[in-house]
Amino acid sequence: MRALCWTGVNELSVENVPDPGLLNRQDAVVKVTASSTCGSDLHLLDGYVPTMMAGDVLGHEFVGEVVETGPDVRERRVGERVTVCSIIGCGRCHYCKEGLWSLCDNSNPNPGFLETSNGHAGAAIFGYSHALGGFAGSHAEYVRVPYADVNAFPVPENVPDASAVFASDAVPTGWMGADLGEVGPGDVVAVWGCGGVGQMATLASLRMGADRVIAIDRFPERLAMAAEMGADVLDYGDVDVLEALKELTGGRGPDVCIEAVGMESHGTGAQYAYDRVKHALRLQTDRGLSLRQAIHACRKGGVVSVLGVYLGVVDKFPMGAVMNKGLTLRGAQQHGHRYIPMILDRMSKGEIDASPLLTHPMRLEDGSRGYELFKKKQDGCVRAVFRP
Ligand SMILES: NC(=O)c1ccc[n+]([C@@H]2O[C@H](COP(=O)([O-])OP(=O)(O)OC[C@H]3O[C@@H](n4cnc5c(N)ncnc54)[C@H](O)[C@@H]3O)[C@@H](O)[C@H]2O)c1
Ligand SMILES: [Zn+2]
Ligand SMILES: [Zn+2]
Repeated sequence: MRALCWTGVNELSVENVPDPGLLNRQDAVVKVTASSTCGSDLHLLDGYVPTMMAGDVLGHEFVGEVVETGPDVRERRVGERVTVCSIIGCGRCHYCKEGLWSLCDNSNPNPGFLETSNGHAGAAIFGYSHALGGFAGSHAEYVRVPYADVNAFPVPENVPDASAVFASDAVPTGWMGADLGEVGPGDVVAVWGCGGVGQMATLASLRMGADRVIAIDRFPERLAMAAEMGADVLDYGDVDVLEALKELTGGRGPDVCIEAVGMESHGTGAQYAYDRVKHALRLQTDRGLSLRQAIHACRKGGVVSVLGVYLGVVDKFPMGAVMNKGLTLRGAQQHGHRYIPMILDRMSKGEIDASPLLTHPMRLEDGSRGYELFKKKQDGCVRAVFRP
């Protein structure tokens, strides 16, 4: 079959790879009908995530049709259209049973790297390096889905692929961000980053009753998309974000700060130059500009909810602010399984429509071009989605 492979830093190529088959009794094989780019893929493309190997198939946000099931698959059926969660859970360990699916103890067969770097390893993720399981990703004609009964969710007939595909990753991630922040009526929420994840965190915060959401980015079309949903917006190229947030909240600061940027945070001025140099020299694994800002801006006693992906160590991490302001700092890879059934149901009722994120439908053959547009945020690209 054809698949979009990572072949080196900033190098992708469509290659012929072996068709996946059933390896375990609880596996299914899914024929992919739509597979999206995600900000997390950029960290792989840019070479910041170790344990990638030339030939690894990328992609973790996808929808498709079940074409084969193992003998222990009880719920899913051949012919069903399914959204598959980007995070692979086993459904049976302590963490999966607690709803903390991205902390699954069983799905990652290569836990050693993360055990060494973080103390413990979490769940595997499709197409996300060998440290996170070494599973082939979804930018391909077919993908093997382990523990299919718990990781594949049937899509209601009236929900198009263009929306259902994002129920795999961007929508549940955004939802989790608001949920971890315990967003509720009366809250002011600030969201750093207006990519697919930030947009969905904005949507979720508004749906959970936030009084006001302030979305921060520098790309006009992304800010316009957040404004369209009802957010106030700040262009960090134009304003001093910390000053502006103070002004907008009567000096108090937002109740909940959702960070949806991650380890490749961009910025302005000397601090950004400093962070880039330290990152390039591998003196830090992650750039912390937006994270520092979120912590600095947050009101006393508020919650900083981190959705952006971080790998290891951030330089100049403001621990004093976390401690002295009594902040709650939370984060996780998404516990998607907790939210996906609700999201698909609300998509079916017309209450959630994620399809505006799909700005660039493309053929798999145009994968390199799709990633280039997505990475450079050219041509208004919010997410390029491949239809193998
Ligand atoms: N926790 C999870 O399970 C999970 C799931 C999906 C994605 N992610 C992570 O979420 C992050 C965002 O993903 P995405 O798909 O939306 O990516 P994206 O690249 O489409 O969007 C990131 C946005 O952040 C903006 N940005 C950069 N620096 C900024 C700054 N200093 N202040 C404000 N905005 C800034 C960029 O302009 C861009 O619009 C990534 O780190 C990704 O790895 C995490
Ligand atoms: Zn993702
Ligand atoms: Zn588990």
